[in-house]
Amino acid sequence: MLISFEGLDGCGKSTQVQLLAERLQSLGYPVRIFREPGATPLSEYIRQLLLHTEMEISPIAEMLLFNAARAQLVHSAIRPALEAGAIVLCDRFDDSTTAYQGYGRGLPLAVVLQCNQIATDGLKPALTFVLDVPVELALQRSQKSDRMEQAGLLFFERVRWGYREIALREPDRVICVDATYTPDEVHTTIWHHVCRRLPSLL
Ligand SMILES: Nc1ncnc2c1ncn2[C@@H]1O[C@H](COP(=O)(O)OP(=O)(O)OP(=O)(O)O)[C@@H](O)[C@H]1O
Ligand SMILES: [Mg+2]
Repeated sequence: MLISFEGLDGCGKSTQVQLLAERLQSLGYPVRIFREPGATPLSEYIRQLLLHTEMEISPIAEMLLFNAARAQLVHSAIRPALEAGAIVLCDRFDDSTTAYQGYGRGLPLAVVLQCNQIATDGLKPALTFVLDVPVELALQRSQKSDRMEQAGLLFFERVRWGYREIALREPDRVICVDATYTPDEVHTTIWHHVCRRLPSLL
């Protein structure tokens, strides 16, 4: 079972991934955590390129690099973990590219969705949590300043709106959670949704 966490930088994804992992592990479920872009040598290398360099990267090149990192992650980490029976928690997945490069940068959605499909080899999360917070709060929580974060307030407003659109389009998979509450309160909401879909432990 693949569960992804989405939302603006600083919305609380890593915090919630950790809380859910601990809860699942305490009940005996095998859990693997991956972050995007990253988790394989190639993907970490691409992460450095995308987030920590000053070089010019065009919107389409950026979208393809994120998807190249994702293709490697799915192939050599996520699929094997799922096949081994783990519950896989992914800190960002393909909806990030739809929200940031599609809605944020303005690339045609059909192109982005098709590239995502190729990169993930059709793998979709069973459940996706969009942690929704106002842009100002996300920036306040987020301490860092990387390439993606220098894109400006309007860019992040478009990304937030994009995530909401994604949730509206796929309500069975994507749950939009009000993440302005405390970490424990947000976790309680997430846990409620996860519980309903958990495979039972034999
Ligand atoms: N619900 C919350 N209320 C208040 N502060 C929070 C909440 N969730 C997380 N934080 C704090 O906000 C900061 C960002 O949280 P976190 O690193 O989990 O976000 P993130 O979405 O993973 O960010 P990034 O995209 O930059 O990795 C951290 O200092 C964290 O402790
Ligand atoms: Mg994080």
